[in-house]
Amino acid sequence: LFAGEADFIWAANSLKNLPPMSKVEIAFAGRSNVGKSSLVNALTGRNTLARTSHTPGRTQQLNFFNINDRFHLVDMPGYGFAAVEKQKVQAWTQLIHDYLRGRASLARVYVLIDARHGIKPVDEAVLETLGTAAVSYQVVLTKADELKPGELDKCMADTLSKIEKRAAAYPEILPTSSRTGFGIPDLRAGIAKLLSE
Ligand code: GTP
Ligand code: MG
Repeated sequence: LFAGEADFIWAANSLKNLPPMSKVEIAFAGRSNVGKSSLVNALTGRNTLARTSHTPGRTQQLNFFNINDRFHLVDMPGYGFAAVEKQKVQAWTQLIHDYLRGRASLARVYVLIDARHGIKPVDEAVLETLGTAAVSYQVVLTKADELKPGELDKCMADTLSKIEKRAAAYPEILPTSSRTGFGIPDLRAGIAKLLSE
């Protein structure tokens, strides 16, 4: 599914300039710096497809990537904090919530959570939006390489206990590392399964 073409096709900074809904969309949401763009690169095996940075606030628009003409991946700006003006972050957060709530072609959202930090109130707000709009989503833990195995198990259990009551949440949490490739085949398999349904 991911072998072949992966091309940047569109950037949107408002709901008014989203691309036509020509393909199923799969979006990556999460706090600034959680590793969304790195995960898009790891999935596609293309290290420079999405721009990454160690300073939060790198991705500033909804970036759409065409994967083999089969579906679109959407790399979103981060919410929560960023090394840019507060107003910008507020505008992105509004755009993120509006897009997640109102996009008919959106098939699945992966909500990325930094395994070192766990679910924060700003994440809960996004889960709430997705739940209210009945958009299916799965929680993905990022940067698993930064944790010891015991710490990762604890984060998995803590995170699961926070999403168990949420009906729109896929009841399985996926630990990943874009750095080592851990969990990436599982994420690819999940997307393949979703597209075949
Ligand atoms: P914004 O676009 O600013 O919201 O950030 P983002 O969520 O797209 O994060 P990005 O992919 O730019 O990565 C942020 C930082 O985390 C970079 O310094 C990455 O190298 C680092 N990072 C990403 N994935 C991993 C990972 O799996 N392990 C480790 N250790 N670091 C990672
Ligand atoms: Mg980014």
